[in-house]
Amino acid sequence: MFQQLDGKALSLQIKEEIANEVRQLTAQGHRPPHLAAVIVGNDGASQTYVANKEKSSHEVGFISSVYRLPENISEKELLQTIDFLNNDNEIDGFIVQLPLPKHINEQHIINAISPDKDVDGFTAINVGRMVLGEEAFIPATPMGICTLLKRYNVETAGKHCVVMGRSNIVGTPVANLLSRKGFDCTVTICHSKTKNMADLTRQADILVVAIGKPEMVTADMVKEGAVVIDVGIHRIPDESKKSGYRIIGDVKHDEVDKLCSWVTPVPGGVGPLTIVSLLENTMKAYKRQLKIK
Ligand code: GUN
Repeated sequence: MFQQLDGKALSLQIKEEIANEVRQLTAQGHRPPHLAAVIVGNDGASQTYVANKEKSSHEVGFISSVYRLPENISEKELLQTIDFLNNDNEIDGFIVQLPLPKHINEQHIINAISPDKDVDGFTAINVGRMVLGEEAFIPATPMGICTLLKRYNVETAGKHCVVMGRSNIVGTPVANLLSRKGFDCTVTICHSKTKNMADLTRQADILVVAIGKPEMVTADMVKEGAVVIDVGIHRIPDESKKSGYRIIGDVKHDEVDKLCSWVTPVPGGVGPLTIVSLLENTMKAYKRQLKIK
């Protein structure tokens, strides 16, 4: 019988821990932590992500601000906004919501973010620090996956972990983190050019799916007793729902779940932990800024 890695419940618990800490620090006379987000244009998914980040920030007592910029903004103007945020001592951390419009060089913008405020952990400096095992901001989704595995005491040492997807945001960093001391997995990364992907995924004790294709992972790709982490999130039309859609992942849960020892549901698995990790990174940036231990 499979058990769920309940991201929703765990996120509520960690948010309560953060909120308590914020209450204590503000009672001592400190200002609250402040997380800002920059959003360019009107991408629907990005609007949803940023709205969720704002809501969660308020729930734990953070100040949240959103800088909404037009789709046709120039790279130079966007860099000016980043420069402003880098230099505002009342802002502890900020994110630039991706994707950016095509005329803007994403890496150029990301690397303009001060590494001390880069709570997404996307700058070259933070990625380098992470890979070296130095103190760093860890990207929110991989950090959330690590938190789920740790808090649910899932055994990882010596396990074969297969990561599907090699993005900078999820696949590449999670492969790095899970191969490290502490998790001690043996990691294989699969991607669009991998041959016989199912032969590899069937060997996985831990399967992390961040491939971005709705319900791509089917029962024949999963070993009995595997731990399955589904990072996918897709809206598909569903007339039986009031909203007109439902959320599905990269895993076909109706046939895969019964094979698993542990599995993350979608929604309510990795997603809530991603936001919580961003809050944890902001808390860390805030303490550094205010020199609080
Ligand atoms: N777009 C999709 N996920 C993310 C994320 O974690 N951070 C940012 N900045 N943009 C994203």
